[in-house]
Amino acid sequence: MQKFIMILMTIMPLVAAPAPYDEGKKLYFSKGCNGCHGVSAAGTHEYPSLAYRRKTFLEYKLKNFRAKRGNSQQSELMIPFALQLTDKEIDLLTTFLSEFHENKSNNKNEFTIRGDGGS
Ligand code: HEC
Repeated sequence: MQKFIMILMTIMPLVAAPAPYDEGKKLYFSKGCNGCHGVSAAGTHEYPSLAYRRKTFLEYKLKNFRAKRGNSQQSELMIPFALQLTDKEIDLLTTFLSEFHENKSNNKNEFTIRGDGGS
């Protein structure tokens, strides 16, 4: 029986290939996107929110940034990060962001500035 479990444990990771969503999530953190867009991709301060946005829109934006096309001074901040991304990584990242379904209670460190009431 113990042997059987041992075998199962070695095979399992091979069978369970990571889902695109999880790969995208890993990239989001390993590429440092969370540093500006927040741990729950809700945006922080002047950085736009990314979670729940349409995949096609996010892809379009990232590919434009990668081609060094931006439409504001703020784009200068984003371009260096887009330059590192391959098409595959953009696909994974935008899958993660558009299908976003993280448990909010895990995101206690979120930096939440949502405007100051218009002053
Ligand atoms: C240094 C801060 C910073 C980091 C790190 C960063 N971004 Fe951004 N991002 C920005 C800013 C600022 C904008 C807004 C640019 C503009 O308005 O032109 C932006 C815009 C975007 C947009 C377009 C959203 C919209 O509403 O227009 C996407 C998509 C995006 N970022 C994805 C990412 C991804 C994916 C990563 C990680 C690979 C990342 N960002 C890392 C600062 C950052």
